[in-house]
Amino acid sequence: MTVVNGYEQSDREEKLNILNLPSLEAEAKKIIPTGGFGYIVGGSEDEWTLQENTKAFNHAQIVPRALTDMENPSTETDVFGLHLKTPIMMAPTAAQGLAHSRGEAATAEGVAKVGGLMAQSTYSSTSITETAAAGNGAPQFFQLYMSKDWDFNESLLDEAVKAGVKAIILTVDATVDGYREEDIINNFQFPIPMANLTKFSEGDGKGKGIEEIYASAAQKISPDDVRRIADYTKLPVIVKGIQTPEDALLAIGAGASGIYVSNHGGRQLNGGPAAFDTLADIAKAVDHRVPVIFDSGVRRGSHVFKALASGADLVAMGRPVIYGLALGGAQGVQSVFEALNHELLIDMQLAGTKDIEAVKKAKLTHINY
Ligand SMILES: Cc1cc2nc3c(=O)[nH]c(=O)nc-3n(C[C@H](O)[C@H](O)[C@H](O)COP(=O)(O)O)c2cc1C
Repeated sequence: MTVVNGYEQSDREEKLNILNLPSLEAEAKKIIPTGGFGYIVGGSEDEWTLQENTKAFNHAQIVPRALTDMENPSTETDVFGLHLKTPIMMAPTAAQGLAHSRGEAATAEGVAKVGGLMAQSTYSSTSITETAAAGNGAPQFFQLYMSKDWDFNESLLDEAVKAGVKAIILTVDATVDGYREEDIINNFQFPIPMANLTKFSEGDGKGKGIEEIYASAAQKISPDDVRRIADYTKLPVIVKGIQTPEDALLAIGAGASGIYVSNHGGRQLNGGPAAFDTLADIAKAVDHRVPVIFDSGVRRGSHVFKALASGADLVAMGRPVIYGLALGGAQGVQSVFEALNHELLIDMQLAGTKDIEAVKKAKLTHINY
């Protein structure tokens, strides 16, 4: 264990024997300090949207296929010009030092081991450069929380470009922080500095609550910002937090190279629909012009399958990976991805879908049980 500013970080480094991803939450709760765990697990208000996120996958069903004369399906896929071993990626999540002393560096290492894609958050515990180096050449994206201070945005984007990230994810659903009661109950303040904020005049985030952190973030984000970031970085810009076809079309009109369908894991607007229930209509509006990433509530191989069959090209997860990080460091992260990929492979075989392209073409049924 490493103690920083009185906060006890896990130092574990081991492979995990995972029955399923939902079971990781209770295990992680035993080793992540209360404030940090509350910040990770929590959603906004009464957490209705958070809970519906996972339940909503039951609104669609996979069609079982048997006489398809196939075996050994593959989860390899090509998207954004990248060749990946799995369509499951790491969502950008802040402050992973709350879960492990090596923070995002260990996550990047674990994701690289499975041939996946890692997204770094602006509010990471390790710096852009350090996290990129830990990925050892594996592809990474950088997620930007746009600051009101454009000089600061440029300094982050400069570092991301220099570190070789393949795309910028612009998160647009967090112009204020969601009303998260868990953080209020715990009077939660980040005990560990946010490495990228050390450049920023307002401090490194240590000792601040989430509301204070978001106070420096831009509260007005428009399609012009998408174009400005694309022009500045010359990298693809993926807009994250899209929940309607209207916003997807606005983003594409402003030059977005990807649409990221997400409700932030139920942490922002509570009372909105489960993310999965919004996916198919958005994908239809996008109509393959740019790739679609999906997250929020993904815990099972069948969830990944259903998201791909509903129009996603990549499927991300947040909390389960952070729990794996706390429980086993880089190897724990690797174990989480392997467990979910294993379930996906079984589902692919039993649905007669040999590769990810076939999964994307698979028809789902929508029977209301
Ligand atoms: C602890 C935590 C921190 C997060 N930090 C960020 C962030 O910095 N930027 C961002 O765009 N999304 C952030 N998210 C949202 C994730 O990118 C993702 O949308 C969400 O975790 C998906 O839901 P899931 O946790 O159910 O898989 C965070 C989520 C969690 C749980």
